[in-house]
Amino acid sequence: MELPEHVTICEVGTRDGFQIEPDFVSTEAKIEVVNLLSDAGVPRIEVTSFVHPKVVPQMRDAEEVIAKIRRRPGTRYAALVPNDKGALRAVDAGVDTIHTVVSASESHNLANVNMTIAESIQKLAAVMRVAEQARIPVSCGISTSFGCPFEGDVPLSRLESVVRRLVDIGAPAVGLADTTGMANPRQVGRVVEHLMARFPGIEWTLHTHDTRAMAIPNILAAMACGVTHFDSSIGGLGGCPFAPGASGNVCSEDLVHCLGAMGVETGIDLDKLIAVSRRVQEIVARPLPGQIIKAGKATRRYPLPDGVAARLPARP
Ligand code: COA
Ligand code: ZN
Repeated sequence: MELPEHVTICEVGTRDGFQIEPDFVSTEAKIEVVNLLSDAGVPRIEVTSFVHPKVVPQMRDAEEVIAKIRRRPGTRYAALVPNDKGALRAVDAGVDTIHTVVSASESHNLANVNMTIAESIQKLAAVMRVAEQARIPVSCGISTSFGCPFEGDVPLSRLESVVRRLVDIGAPAVGLADTTGMANPRQVGRVVEHLMARFPGIEWTLHTHDTRAMAIPNILAAMACGVTHFDSSIGGLGGCPFAPGASGNVCSEDLVHCLGAMGVETGIDLDKLIAVSRRVQEIVARPLPGQIIKAGKATRRYPLPDGVAARLPARP
């Protein structure tokens, strides 16, 4: 399998993860997690979102979180916005990068941001103008790119038309999001190959959810096609409050472990990342879905059972 030597991970746990937590995660805890992720060398963090505080109460402290995190040189701090109002708030708060959201399916877009896709694209055009004035890079995510929990299959032609409209308003980077874990690796390969050929020069990100245990296989399929940017979430936190059946993103430490085992660089300190995940489990007061935190790294060794050492044949 041909794999890139290096990939860039964007941690989304404090946004995609915390947004769905039933109990409010304190502002101090959010800041602490972002700082720990920075210390672990994570190159990109989607810290929070500037959305309506009544719609997503967990993100109501977005300004304060951005103001109080410790900025590590080498980490880019992003926030998600659905419209120009969100973009203005994000710019005022001082984010490094703006991430936007629109869905590939009309039903999910209405459920998520109360707009048709066409209305969202208009708002995102205004977001692009805000970002351009502030000289801040933008990456445009597309929810339900590989399937919609309301509509089922999302035809590739429909996804392509949303990408086209984003590229037309000036998007330099596009994220394909598998919001409820409906994608499979063959589909990811087909979709990514198709879009990469049609939209050269775009930076592609894959945003996966592990709802059906296909997130890492999907990432491998995208990597084999040349995608080098992936979103992941510490401990496997995550889920969209407006997509029934949504569950956690691909787990950051599991992904970094898998990539490291294959010799693909991320620049992230895996031991520190595992420690962050432990801390996040304390904060949310429950075990998270990640595997490595339970199993240990593949380099973990156990003492021999009684009597085995004496009977081991001498090594040649
Ligand atoms: N931040 C804060 N307030 C906002 C806002 C934003 N980004 N966007 C709009 N508002 C305010 C408006 O100022 C207006 O306030 P007013 O009533 O005091 O005048 C009010 O919200 C209604 O504005 P409108 O444009 O009609 O918004 P809406 O009620 O249709 O909601 C969204 C649209 C996009 C703001 C809302 O659905 C939302 O925040 N969705 C986010 C969903 C999400 O985060 N999903 C998970 C991540 S994918
Ligand atoms: Zn998501």
